[in-house]
Amino acid sequence: MEVGCLDAEVRLTPKVLAINGSLRREGSRTLRALEIALRGAADAGAQTELLDLKKLALPFYDDRFDIQSYPPSVFAFIERVRWADGLILASPVYHGTLSGAMKNALDFLELLGHDQPPWLEGRVVGLISVAGGNSGINTINSMLHTCRAIRAWVAPSSVAIPGSAFAGDGQLQDPKIKERLVNLGVEIARYAQLFAQERITKR
Ligand SMILES: Cc1cc2nc3c(=O)[nH]c(=O)nc-3n(C[C@H](O)[C@H](O)[C@H](O)COP(=O)(O)O)c2cc1C
Repeated sequence: MEVGCLDAEVRLTPKVLAINGSLRREGSRTLRALEIALRGAADAGAQTELLDLKKLALPFYDDRFDIQSYPPSVFAFIERVRWADGLILASPVYHGTLSGAMKNALDFLELLGHDQPPWLEGRVVGLISVAGGNSGINTINSMLHTCRAIRAWVAPSSVAIPGSAFAGDGQLQDPKIKERLVNLGVEIARYAQLFAQERITKR
């Protein structure tokens, strides 16, 4: 599927970054769901990248604004977010809310506060939660509040996945959820392009 655009002459390839907020070492369901959404974005014409927080091993954010005083993983993380026109965030449900790893990563986006535009302004964000039970909506809402606080445009079609959507082997088996994930990816690619276009034409 092709992404619509405003003007064929300045057509942009949207850049979409997916962030996995589960630190599970093997068989992360959050990662599986995220990969489906990211494929949707890629099939819609986006350039995509997946950032797995367990591989990045960020330290805790501690309110220092000097990026060089953190380990290099922090600079790498911030640069990937700067690169993106749109993001897809996926978190497991931990005690009714988002994982500490995802919240910590979002706290590091404070380091974008002096960018122009600051934080996630002018970027679109899609949200996914993966529960063991049925209680994923609060995790979506928690991420939504954080994303709004850092000025992101949050896409309306977030996907809260219950544990029952997965088969015993950990594969996502619910076709409707798969379709919603793909559609989320397409939506993020589409709006990432529109936002990127807006940034270019404003220059
Ligand atoms: C610390 C912890 C807290 C959890 N809290 C909840 C919860 O409140 N509600 C729920 O439905 N599942 C809860 N779960 C289950 C996870 O959301 C579920 O296993 C999810 O698939 C994990 O994603 P992952 O496979 O990507 O790590 C919790 C799991 C852990 C490890």
